[in-house]
Amino acid sequence: MRVDGQPYRTIWVAGDGKTVEIIDQTLLPHRFATIQLRTLDDAAHAIKSMQVRGAPLIGAAAAYGICLAVNADPSDEALDRAYDTLLATRPTAVNLRWALDNMRAHLRNLPRDRRVAAAYARAHDICEDDVAINSAIGDHGLTMLREIAARKKQRPLNILTHCNAGWLAAVDWGTALAPIYKAQDSGLPVHVWVDETRPRNQGMSLTAWELGQHGVKHTVIADNVGGHLMQHGMVDLAIVGTDRTTARGDVCNKIGTYLKALAAKDNDVPFYVALPSPTIDWRLDDGIRDIPIEQRDGEELSHISGRLPDGSVVRVDISPPGSAMANFAFDVTPAHLITGLITERGICRASADGLRTMFPDRVSGN
Ligand code: MRU
Repeated sequence: MRVDGQPYRTIWVAGDGKTVEIIDQTLLPHRFATIQLRTLDDAAHAIKSMQVRGAPLIGAAAAYGICLAVNADPSDEALDRAYDTLLATRPTAVNLRWALDNMRAHLRNLPRDRRVAAAYARAHDICEDDVAINSAIGDHGLTMLREIAARKKQRPLNILTHCNAGWLAAVDWGTALAPIYKAQDSGLPVHVWVDETRPRNQGMSLTAWELGQHGVKHTVIADNVGGHLMQHGMVDLAIVGTDRTTARGDVCNKIGTYLKALAAKDNDVPFYVALPSPTIDWRLDDGIRDIPIEQRDGEELSHISGRLPDGSVVRVDISPPGSAMANFAFDVTPAHLITGLITERGICRASADGLRTMFPDRVSGN
């Protein structure tokens, strides 16, 4: 996608063929800057500190973290250490483990002197696959948007989204926003209600920013507004992303997604989840019981960053001294609240049958 008219991806290899470059997402929307990752620790830090975030991008960054580690030391021991270090960075998005398993299984079978080149080639393939998967999700989602638009008299189509499941959360296109970009590009009028997504405000800082860069009409709303809009017919559908989806279609996504799904159900608003297949955890069924939910530092809740009129960015404390903070980063939306899963192979029901039918070749493992 484009930043100030210039094409960008979220992660790429620099001209030296080894250093990895990323967009530092902790600085958006106030400043656009890229940074270089040269070591395994740089990559682990980038994931942990959320310079890169979003399930597909975490997977891609972990793959390149393995490249950086293998470049420094191609031994089995170093590979295992890198795997463990990267796996420990964030617990919820299953793409992390998926990418690490993929990289390690591939490299283990190779002699050491071939591992560096093979690692970079495999990480490159993971990124290209991510782009192709999300582009296909965009195409299937666009067909669905056209069908909904055909039933609706007024334009534009009003779509609600939560957190950031746009191109910044992936290598390109994004998951939930891919159908929206394809709609915009094909001339189907859309308007996006963007949940601000406390506590880190990925909706406000990232989704609104990237939609603006692509010229998509959007309005930021406080997290609690969605239900009201749905009651008043102002939302035609919701599309969200996912950090992990179980084999029976329970969807783990950014905290607050579940409440949007409940409101959507109560108001007969279709609620779709954009689901790339590497985000399916085939080992799990019951998402509420089995998906580990990341709990982040309370400072994300108690502090907030903003730009002053002179352009400087400051971080301030908005909490009363002494109050405890609880910062659960994700929640699980049970499958029965979800209208459909938009995958790269098409749209299916959020159920064991729906996913099995769509991915008969994958059921036995990721
Ligand atoms: O904590 P984050 O920012 O890494 O959370 C990920 C997300 O942005 C969302 O939960 C998203 O909908 C899933 S990733 C496409």
